[in-house]
Amino acid sequence: MTSPNESDYSLLAPGPVNLHPEVRKALALPMIHHRTPEFDKILKRVLTNIKTVFQTKEDVYLLTATGSGGMEALLVNTISPGDKVLAIVSGKFGERWADMAKVFGAAVTIIEVPWGEAVDVSAVEEHLQKNPNTRAVLCQACETSTAVAHPIKEIAAVVQKYSETLFLVDAITALGAYPIRMDEWKIDGLVAGSQKAFMLPTGMAFISFSQKAWKFIDQAKCPRYYFDVRKEKKANSAGETFYSSNVVIIRALDVVLNLIQAQGLDKLFHDIHRRAEFTRIFAQKLGFLLYAKAPSDSVTALTVPSNMDGQKIRLQLEEAHNITIMGGQDQAKGKIIRVGHMGYIQDHELVRLMECLGHTLRHFDPDYISLEQVSLIANDAEKWLEQNP
Ligand SMILES: Cc1ncc(COP(=O)(O)O)c(C=O)c1O
Repeated sequence: MTSPNESDYSLLAPGPVNLHPEVRKALALPMIHHRTPEFDKILKRVLTNIKTVFQTKEDVYLLTATGSGGMEALLVNTISPGDKVLAIVSGKFGERWADMAKVFGAAVTIIEVPWGEAVDVSAVEEHLQKNPNTRAVLCQACETSTAVAHPIKEIAAVVQKYSETLFLVDAITALGAYPIRMDEWKIDGLVAGSQKAFMLPTGMAFISFSQKAWKFIDQAKCPRYYFDVRKEKKANSAGETFYSSNVVIIRALDVVLNLIQAQGLDKLFHDIHRRAEFTRIFAQKLGFLLYAKAPSDSVTALTVPSNMDGQKIRLQLEEAHNITIMGGQDQAKGKIIRVGHMGYIQDHELVRLMECLGHTLRHFDPDYISLEQVSLIANDAEKWLEQNP
């Protein structure tokens, strides 16, 4: 890859993402200490404003860890070794969470969902009917490896009927990208990641627990030290974080949350949905197929033409056109490419993506699509964006 050139580099991965110019400015500010009145004010504002994105009245905790650390925090604060855990596994990140629960000694049952498909809610219901003493159900809101959006609201409606069971949701590639209503839907544990819809660098996870979950937090017997949320709760109520605060990212988060407050969550969701729609329409015009049967708005997975390799398409797009998207993982490696819709993405980048994807397809098979077709599609793409603001 050529070194990212300020003017024409597009990071269109499902995280990390293009940063907003105001966020980049905030990241470049001189360092301040976290135990200062100046930082206290920022932290207070952030801890209040982030609740809007979680759509919760509960407290949200800011962890200096990647998203996986937040997934671990949800587990270790709510389960004990030997507890029954139901894990929905529909791709890489579902696998990771199930493995994690096993490492902490949970008795894990897996609902295996074919890649590209969403879980059938009745399978969750059936399992809970037979195992009402299940402590936690784990699910990704969006399984990033397949770009599938799971029916979180519907699963939450099932889980809430069981007083001993918590619904823990990995919304790392969903929160801030489309509606996930923690309180209204009754989600018990929710985790988000800084490098996704929060359009920040990688390195922080944000978590929250319902009142139902808090009842289990003192009883949970998994070993926990760094991720013991009770320490963070105590520190936050005194206006601080327990460990050294991640000043740089929290300060940038303040900027993002102010931007979100100014435009409103609905506008944020609208913009991401529009990019997803655009990608689904124009990628299909180029001959790609949609891989996910229940496509998420945060990321689109596209099945590449059968005579081509998704990894090579990804690399060529980066090397020749300075655009980064992702390929597939594991069983989807080579078969799909994945385009992210979160972060600071401008319309001209979307048009350029389609045009460059067209050129990339021609690079591997000049007969696949003509130059004229590529420019027609790029023209239509531009018009579509004008007509669908
Ligand atoms: C759905 C989902 N869960 C978990 C993770 C892991 O997050 P991290 O790589 O920040 O630990 C990711 C990262 O892409 C993800 O998309």
